[in-house]
This record gives sequence, structure tokens and C-alpha cells, in this order.
Amino acid sequence: MNGPEADRVVLVTGGAGGIGSAVCRRLADHRTTLAVADRDVESAREIALEVRSAGGRAEPFGCDLSRPEEVEALVACVVERFGALHGLCTVAGSIRRGDITELTPADWRATFEDNLDSVFLTCRAAIPQLAKEGGGSIVTIASGWGLRAGRRAAAYCAAKAGVVMLTQAMALDHASAGIRANCVAPGDVRTSMLEREAHQLGRPVAEFYEEAADRPLGRVGEPREIADAVSFLLGEKSSFVTGAVLTVDGGGTL
Ligand SMILES: NC(=O)c1ccc[n+]([C@@H]2O[C@H](COP(=O)([O-])OP(=O)(O)OC[C@H]3O[C@@H](n4cnc5c(N)ncnc54)[C@H](O)[C@@H]3O)[C@@H](O)[C@H]2O)c1
Repeated sequence: MNGPEADRVVLVTGGAGGIGSAVCRRLADHRTTLAVADRDVESAREIALEVRSAGGRAEPFGCDLSRPEEVEALVACVVERFGALHGLCTVAGSIRRGDITELTPADWRATFEDNLDSVFLTCRAAIPQLAKEGGGSIVTIASGWGLRAGRRAAAYCAAKAGVVMLTQAMALDHASAGIRANCVAPGDVRTSMLEREAHQLGRPVAEFYEEAADRPLGRVGEPREIADAVSFLLGEKSSFVTGAVLTVDGGGTL
């Protein structure tokens, strides 16, 4: 983003979730105006209220980010409400654990819709608005499993690899409009997504967490640690960085 971060408007998708809400809290520290978008509109409302009661500016937006018409309307509403859009962080995503013989075609489609279609649609709607402001910054959230395969997460690995490549393609295509696009690839982070994975695999949550901590730094990540990386890549301190993939995973992909 160009200019002082305090004057910026940023759309955070998946803003009601574990990592998305941490991103909202982190950006609110910089007094960025936040559009908190999620299909879980009640939780998005709670996050926006929390930001506002701490003195920040935030508005919740209910949206299924896999639906083109809803995403177009979302971006139009954000611009109408705040007058501009300067940054975008695409955090929304979901996981269905299984190898390809375990996953149904519906699992495959839903995984691609939530993780990859959502990024395509949001960026597609946002880029003309960022360009109107003379440029902007996009940060996508992929996964370590978009860089290196993990077991029994075939659709998720494929979709997240798509997020990495889509981000780099956008970095090339839109640099001339002053738009930077970078990707954060988290490793296991303490959110409800990890607990859902344990349930999907029929594993006790505590045991699942213990295994997830088996990485060079010896623990899982905290949402605020992902938010710090996002904040760096969205803001002016990374002004010469585009097309980068920043792994934030305690060394899990080494
Ligand atoms: N938690 C981890 O260990 C981990 C690791 C690597 C990558 N990630 C990625 O980080 C991102 C955030 O994950 P999280 O752990 O905070 O999970 P989370 O489940 O807490 O949050 C995900 C949010 O995305 C929203 N969402 C999903 N699909 C949507 C759609 N189609 N439309 C609107 N909203 C939608 C959900 O409602 C939810 O609020 C995801 O992209 C995930 O794949 C998470």
C-alpha cells in the first residue's frame, strides 16, 4: 500500500476465523480501516465490534466468497462505504482431510471453492479498485502444504499450490499498476481448523496438537504470528517485495 497505513482501507476475507481475526486485530493497531468479510457474519460482527470498541474502524460484511455475484457486491459495498480500497488479505479457507480415494467430488469442489475460487474472485473484483488508487497490496494465505505435500489432504494441497501460483501470476500481471501480491504460507496454527482436522481424522485433539508441534521450533504457531507476517507484506515496509512466498511455520517445511 502507498502512503500512511492509518489512512488505508483493507478488506480481510475469512476475517471471522482464527487467523483472519488476528489479522484484523493486528491491522487495527495501525488504525487501518477494516472490512471484515466472512460467511459467518455473526462472528465477523463480533470482530468488527471488538475493533471498534478498541477505537478502530471496522465493518462486518456477510459473503460467500465462492459466489462471483456476492464477491462483486462485497467489493462494491466496501468501496461505497469507505470510499476506496487500498489492500486485500485473503484468509478464507477450509480443509477436508483425505486422500483422493476418500474425498468425494463434492469435497474436492468445496475445497477448491473456499481456498482458490475465493482468492480468484476477490482479487479479480479488488484489483481494478486498487489500480484506481494508484496501486495497492494483496496478501494471500496459502499453506506449507501448498509448497510440499502432506498426507491425506490431497484437495487442500492442490488448492493451496494454486493459491501460491495465482499470487505470483498476479504479481507479474499487475506490478505495472503499482499492485504488489505476496503470499504467506503458514504451518499448523492454533485455530479451530486444526481441531476440525483432528475430528475429521478421528484423532484425539491433544495428540494431534502434539504431533503438529513436531517441527524445528517444537510448537504450533499462534494466529498473531501469521498476522505479523501479513502486516509486513501489506504495508510499506515491504515496498520492494512482490511475488514472495513467506513460510511462517516454525521450520515445518525444512
Ligand atoms: N490453522 C492452520 O493450521 C493453518 C495452516 C496453514 C494454512 N491455514 C490457512 O489459513 C487460513 C485461515 O485458517 P484458520 O485456521 O483461521 O481457519 P478458521 O476456520 O478459523 O477460519 C477460516 C474462515 O474462513 C471462512 N470461510 C471459509 N470459506 C469461506 C467462504 N467460501 N466464504 C466466506 N468465508 C469463508 C470461515 O467461515 C472461517 O471464518 C485458511 O486459508 C487456512 O487454509 C491455516
